[in-house]
Amino acid sequence: MTAASPGARPATPVSATGPTFAVIPGAQVKRVLRGHENEIIDLVEATYQLHGEGDTVNPPSYFLQFPDRPSARIIALPASIGGKLRVDGLKWISSFPENVPAGIPRASAVLILNDHDTGYPFACLEASIISAARTAASAAAAADWLSRGRGRPARAGFFGTGLIARYIHTFLAAAGWTFDETGVYDLSAGSADGFRGYLEQSGSPGKVTVHGAPEQLIRSSDLVIFATVAGQPHVSDPAWFGHHPLVLHVSLRDLAPEILLDAANVVDDVEHCLKASTSPHLAEQLTGSRDFLDGTLSDVMAGHVTVPADRTVIFSPFGLGVLDLAVGTYVYDQVARAGDLHTIDEFFHEMRRYG
Ligand SMILES: NC(=O)c1ccc[n+]([C@@H]2O[C@H](COP(=O)([O-])OP(=O)(O)OC[C@H]3O[C@@H](n4cnc5c(N)ncnc54)[C@H](O)[C@@H]3O)[C@@H](O)[C@H]2O)c1
Repeated sequence: MTAASPGARPATPVSATGPTFAVIPGAQVKRVLRGHENEIIDLVEATYQLHGEGDTVNPPSYFLQFPDRPSARIIALPASIGGKLRVDGLKWISSFPENVPAGIPRASAVLILNDHDTGYPFACLEASIISAARTAASAAAAADWLSRGRGRPARAGFFGTGLIARYIHTFLAAAGWTFDETGVYDLSAGSADGFRGYLEQSGSPGKVTVHGAPEQLIRSSDLVIFATVAGQPHVSDPAWFGHHPLVLHVSLRDLAPEILLDAANVVDDVEHCLKASTSPHLAEQLTGSRDFLDGTLSDVMAGHVTVPADRTVIFSPFGLGVLDLAVGTYVYDQVARAGDLHTIDEFFHEMRRYG
């Protein structure tokens, strides 16, 4: 592997027998990320900026779906980051919603990191935690940037209360957000109760209310976070948004197009987000145009787009592979620096051209 350019991250190590390959389990990933939420938010913002400046490659995600298991999918997110990170890779993430009633998380994932100069894969990381962390960091960054000039919301409402909701709350709290009231709504009473328990033991101040109906939750929240597994819109009355909340539409398919058409809309990447029957995709199909979009989060961060104070603002992040790559590389570098990499001896074995 060749030497990295000045200021770039170090080249991937090569042992006497060839390029190294490390496996980083979820326990290590979690240890590295815990307590570093603000660094991850900064990293995600920097990656959005790099993406906005065109110093990334982020092809469309590929959805593997199954006729015999219609609720399940496995998504491939290939990506490449330039700048100082200089790394390529792939997240391969399964979503099996039936796992949840069976007692294991919906999503499971691996992230492969490839060396910039040789293309050799140099690490495989457990990636459901990386994915949840980058999603939560993106949500926290959006909450911050999109509330500037509008005032910080004091009442949060979590619509869908699984792992992603928990991570978003953790990242918001780490970034200094506190709420006078936190509302909770989930189709599953068990999930709503579990999330309320998490909120109570997290030590977050403020009152927690479990709502029995979606309308109550939305009307009583200035920051609404959608993290359900809904496949098609189930919230369609624009009147519920008459108080003009900031909406983090992380699950992407909850809102009828009419809600988006009545709001300012920010996405992470236009081409990515207007696909796969997301609510923005449905709004484009309904109107035959993209005029309802105000811009991307990196446009807002660069000052090219100003968010209105007197309208509902909806952030719909498709979820970019470059974010997984940035967070995964951060984890790899921390584990490597601590000397804790578990490398697999002789993983790459046929190394001499003629034996
Ligand atoms: N945009 C992104 O970058 C990104 C990244 C990761 C995850 N996600 C999405 O976040 C969502 C949540 O993921 P998770 O791991 O927390 O899932 P999860 O299965 O752990 O939790 C989802 C919760 O939503 C509830 N729910 C489902 N339909 C509902 C409805 N109509 N109303 C209210 N509650 C409902 C379920 O009961 C469950 O408690 C998924 O849709 C996932 O695809 C988005």
